[in-house]
Amino acid sequence: MSENAVLTSFTPIDRPVRAAFVGLGRIYDLNVRGYLDNDDVRVVAIVDPKQERRAQRQLDWPEARAFDSVDELAASGLGVDAVEVLLPIVLHEQGVEQCLAQGWHVNLQKPFANDLPSAQRMISAARLNGRQLRVMENYVFYEPLRKLKEVVDSGELGPVSGYHLKMVASGRGGWEVPGDTSKWQFDEARHGRGILLFDDGWHKLSTALWLFGPIKEVRAWVGATEVVAGLEIDAPTTVVWEHTNGIRGVWDITLAVDMYLRSDYYTNDERWEVTGRRGFARVNRCTARGIQQPSFEVYLDGEMRSYHALDDDWASSFRDSGRHWLRWLRCGEGPLLWDAEEAMEVLRVALSAYESSARGGVGIDPQSLG
Ligand SMILES: NC(=O)c1ccc[n+]([C@@H]2O[C@H](COP(=O)([O-])OP(=O)(O)OC[C@H]3O[C@@H](n4cnc5c(N)ncnc54)[C@H](O)[C@@H]3O)[C@@H](O)[C@H]2O)c1
Repeated sequence: MSENAVLTSFTPIDRPVRAAFVGLGRIYDLNVRGYLDNDDVRVVAIVDPKQERRAQRQLDWPEARAFDSVDELAASGLGVDAVEVLLPIVLHEQGVEQCLAQGWHVNLQKPFANDLPSAQRMISAARLNGRQLRVMENYVFYEPLRKLKEVVDSGELGPVSGYHLKMVASGRGGWEVPGDTSKWQFDEARHGRGILLFDDGWHKLSTALWLFGPIKEVRAWVGATEVVAGLEIDAPTTVVWEHTNGIRGVWDITLAVDMYLRSDYYTNDERWEVTGRRGFARVNRCTARGIQQPSFEVYLDGEMRSYHALDDDWASSFRDSGRHWLRWLRCGEGPLLWDAEEAMEVLRVALSAYESSARGGVGIDPQSLG
């Protein structure tokens, strides 16, 4: 268990985990992958106020009981050990606290919360109830990114000189996002928590903390582009930061509304590049199938090494993150990726970017927030 974990002790569950899904919307399609064909778990309940979603997901779990609210599930007396909370961000706190109060461990989707007090209240609730709260981060389970970390940690690139992330949100291609899902995302954007910097950006900032540790200063310039009347997307945006170890990162976010990208999921052209004194390593894509070349490459001494057999389907990162959580519940060993305190650090960095931009791009120490 990480030294920052919410719980000081944890008793592993010595039988398959009895799990419930709370929220059966778009991202359920990927979170479910950690649960399918997994002997560590038995899905006993599915919860969503929408009848059609319950009916659709019941096909995956014919033996699970379906409920239209957490209250109804709690009142049923059904035995539950852990819950997969897949709710719109504004409902995270209420949903998480309800589940923790029932004595259920919680695996929460990111972003943790819209502000620090809300995240802190969830952490307090986990402590109070003696239950584990994890904020899942699937990107750190994406095999090309794991390979990137392995190469960086091996030292073969030499001392790291810099970290660069590029993200282009495109408007064409990918899967359908239901209208009610888009609605809460647009509400978030209207309340200053943009879909690129805050929602998707959560993952990008997570990779920085995961690779290079704590961040001591963030500077940002958050832009806006009106895509339809009354709706702005938070690009162009640029964020730069410095880790405590001196490594600097830069992340540029661009919007290409009319660009088509082939994707089985969201459309997003993403790159990660770590430059060392001797060479560089690069992840060429993730969510969408942008660049059709190996998803991971390493350049050293005039030669490029390409990885052709990585599991670079983005959905596999959800599968592996979910399996990791369920295994953790069975044995209680290893890092949670992320535990709630670590997720709090990601939130601090994201909020520092907003604070910096609002103050004209000045440097903000994430620890100075609230
Ligand atoms: N890891 C990733 O890459 C990733 C990608 C997309 C979304 N997400 C996150 O996943 C979460 C869910 O996103 P989504 O796109 O699936 O949203 P969604 O709107 O498609 O799904 C949410 C579901 O929750 C249901 N719901 C609403 N209130 C409820 C309640 N009180 N109890 C039970 N169910 C309730 C809704 O009916 C809906 O079916 C968000 O936190 C989002 O940021 C993460």
